[in-house]
Amino acid sequence: MAQVEPQPVRIAAGTGEMPRHVAIIMDGNGRWAKKRMLPRAMGHKRGVETVRNIVRAAGELGLETLSLYAFSSENWKRPEEEINDLMALMRDFIKSDFDTFAKNDVRLKIIGDYKALSADIVEILEESVARTAKNSRTTLAVALNYGSQDEMVRAARAAAAQGEISASSIEANLDTAGLPPLDLLIRTSGEQRLSNFMLWQAAYAEFWFTETLWPDFSKDELAAALNEFACRERRYGGR
Ligand code: FPP
Repeated sequence: MAQVEPQPVRIAAGTGEMPRHVAIIMDGNGRWAKKRMLPRAMGHKRGVETVRNIVRAAGELGLETLSLYAFSSENWKRPEEEINDLMALMRDFIKSDFDTFAKNDVRLKIIGDYKALSADIVEILEESVARTAKNSRTTLAVALNYGSQDEMVRAARAAAAQGEISASSIEANLDTAGLPPLDLLIRTSGEQRLSNFMLWQAAYAEFWFTETLWPDFSKDELAAALNEFACRERRYGGR
């Protein structure tokens, strides 16, 4: 009887690598507050605490780029009071934390049509972007008034004006141009959809979903997502 040649076992070993670029859809602030019978604003306030902790954790874990979905172009549909709360939190956060970020070598980038925000916020954002432009440890890309379809339309128009529409010319005109390719996209609170976030960039990203509500998301959970990423096998359509 013919001998069957032993076949090498193909272990579904991942790359063993850290993602360079992680994006997070921070979801569940409202539910976190509701569970505690607190106003929604308290959920957003605790959400900002988590932003603070996760930006620090990203630096400690050696992440090159962290993108956070802070305010979508669809969030304008929320009640005016909630929008005002979110804007006030954003303003306070930039004012109170950017000295620390600047010292910790964090570079701020804003993605989205942020110029539609109120003039004082645009001013402090642009000041912080300029002040941290030379930092290189971690890039924090904050998505503000961001909608991926709008970003793609703006990028396609800019590419057309430059004379060529191709995948690379559109990519070069996205708000995320210059950032590393998106490796890992995390969404908290059990929802499993993209909600108009980084549709183009997610083409070959790995997805990681957790039931944890954003205010409870922690460095340990981020590290768990990075570990799982390292175990995934990425083929980019090849084999
Ligand atoms: C989703 O919770 C979260 C948001 C719409 C905004 C995220 C904003 C922050 C964490 C605060 C500001 C950000 C920065 C960068 C300072 P939700 O209200 O949709 O929660 P729900 O789905 O449970 O109602």
